[in-house]
Amino acid sequence: MSKYTQKAAITVSQIVAAKAKGQKVSVVTCYDSAFARLVDQTDVDIVLVGDSLGNVMLGHDNTIPVTMDDMLHHARAVARVLTRPFLCVDMPFLSYHLSVQQALTNAGRLIQEGGAQGVKVEGGRSIAPQVRALVEAGIPVMGHLGLTPQSVHAMGGYRVQGRGVEAAQAMLDDARALEEAGIFALVLEMVPAELARRITETLKVPTIGIGAGPICDGQVLVLHDILGFDEGFNPKFLKKYANLGKVVREAVEAYDTEVKSGAFPGPDHSFKD
Ligand code: KIV
Repeated sequence: MSKYTQKAAITVSQIVAAKAKGQKVSVVTCYDSAFARLVDQTDVDIVLVGDSLGNVMLGHDNTIPVTMDDMLHHARAVARVLTRPFLCVDMPFLSYHLSVQQALTNAGRLIQEGGAQGVKVEGGRSIAPQVRALVEAGIPVMGHLGLTPQSVHAMGGYRVQGRGVEAAQAMLDDARALEEAGIFALVLEMVPAELARRITETLKVPTIGIGAGPICDGQVLVLHDILGFDEGFNPKFLKKYANLGKVVREAVEAYDTEVKSGAFPGPDHSFKD
């Protein structure tokens, strides 16, 4: 057992308390058990089974086609092996907008069948009743404002949100409404750094930035982006910590070459009588 897996599991109250202590919260996405086992051996605080799995794992252009069944499938794979980070799972497109009842039913499935410890929802004041009902049912909720990819068509693309006085005030009002409804943390995606600072200083719960500058209480990135799987994906907010796209391609190329030349398998990889 690694030194990491011996640590106690992270709780939602520890995540909220981190802000008061001035401790940053680190969040990464994860969609399968192979990567979850590795992330589990780090000090990352929250694992998010994001609906970005639509792009990263399922080959969709955006997160809109992602279904409850997709989320449950990937959440279970991560939940089976994760021992220490808090496990938060995205509620997919239109799985919580229709009614409070619909939100409760679907969030309940992610907790009960998917092994989630909390859920994430995109949107502000318009979904505050759903957030309140989930929290009252004992389901921790993470909010998500700024660029909310489930609204990509309404936003006209993946662009910075909250620019200008009115848009900034609207986002601040949404953030307050979500906090009032009971969220334990708030993702701010593609938001001007100054607005993210104002929201961070206004809320008691931690803000988790992605493209929202340094004055947030934590950060989230998509795991495959951190690892550099896609050499062609280089948005301004992303820092790559590895170049696994190249590593994987070179390894597969070397294997292919050795199979075709007969160099693999040799005596070292063969069994004796
Ligand atoms: O779906 C996702 O992975 C997310 C994070 C990038 C915040 O929402």
